Amino acid sequence: MQAVILVGGLGTRLRPITFDIPKALVPLRNEPFIGYMIDFLRAGGVDGVVLSMGYMPDPIQEYFAGREDLKDFPIHYAVEDRPLGTAGGIKNAERYLDGEPLVVVNGDVLTGTDLAKAVELHQSSDSLATITLTSVEDPTAYGLVEVDHDMLVRRFLEKPAADEVTTNLVNAGIYVLESEVLRSIPEDREVSIEREIFPDLQARGKLRAHISSSYWRDIGTPRSYLAASHDALSGAVGAPRKGFEYLDVNSSTECGKNVKILPPVSVAAGCEIGHSASIGGRTSLGNGCRVGEGAVVEGSILLDGAEIDSGAVVRGSIIGPGARVGQNAIVRGLSVLGARCVVGEGNVLDQGVRINPGVVVSPRSLSF
Ligand code: GDD
Ligand code: MG
Repeated sequence: MQAVILVGGLGTRLRPITFDIPKALVPLRNEPFIGYMIDFLRAGGVDGVVLSMGYMPDPIQEYFAGREDLKDFPIHYAVEDRPLGTAGGIKNAERYLDGEPLVVVNGDVLTGTDLAKAVELHQSSDSLATITLTSVEDPTAYGLVEVDHDMLVRRFLEKPAADEVTTNLVNAGIYVLESEVLRSIPEDREVSIEREIFPDLQARGKLRAHISSSYWRDIGTPRSYLAASHDALSGAVGAPRKGFEYLDVNSSTECGKNVKILPPVSVAAGCEIGHSASIGGRTSLGNGCRVGEGAVVEGSILLDGAEIDSGAVVRGSIIGPGARVGQNAIVRGLSVLGARCVVGEGNVLDQGVRINPGVVVSPRSLSF
């Protein structure tokens, strides 16, 4: 069975990280996210994929070119010259598809759900599409889905307003589609599967659902990316890749409990690198990161080459590749620093502040 992975979005909610790294490649436990997606699909019986791409396709293709272990796994690339939307992106992949029922996934969901089961349920029904549902606290950022007792979809409402929320069940971004659905998608224009195709199938009584209670998370915001990183580090989701070793420094007095540091990183004496009980959870340090003397890093993600100078504090935040946090500066509260930016000595960044790539913040000039 083939799968289409939608990875063409701009990843706006994860900016400024996604100015430099497409969402599909943001690392979890130092492994690009899409690697987890491929594992998930293969475990569910998928034997070839088409990547439906638009924004920053090159680094994604380079990643796959470097995956020797996937050389016998067919991967095609369907690149849009303008955004075609979530259904238009599937249509654009049609030339690589075999005309059989197919799996479609949003390229930003981290999940341990049973894909084979979803396929089986789909095949035993007369529906044209079967969507997997998951339960979330606040459905307003998702596609809300009401079902009846036979799991027929009664309503599909993308991004409901707060007063339209009638259930906690939402679209998990994992579909099994008959090829007839693919053929029905209009060509050469932007088409949303959530706003056009699903409501239409629902009205025809051809849209079914399957509820999953397995691990599921959309990694598309700083908060959920940090949570996904924590879950990947703690082993709650995703199997470690062979040959991918941790240096476990639990016993080190310089680091907090449950810290795993992936070499090569440099951590000076007297740092606290650890877990945050509020936002962020476990900390992840990318290749070539440097943490200076007495710095504190908790519940955060430091992407490759990030540097934290002595005495600085980073909590519940994401530090972009090659970015630098100056001496005694504080970065906390879901703040996100873009690639190569420099936060000068003594600044305080809080409350989700985002600094664009390459920006230099002068010493002691910001206090949020
Ligand atoms: N090829 C292509 N072209 N892909 C696209 C495009 C496009 O124009 N627009 C978005 N995508 C990809 C994104 O890269 C992402 O992997 C996926 O489609 C979903 O887009 P998001 O922008 O992440 O959507 P969302 O998170 O707001 O909502 C979607 O996912 C939720 C589950 O996480 C919807 O499908 C919701 O209904 C769903 O609940
Ligand atoms: Mg998303």
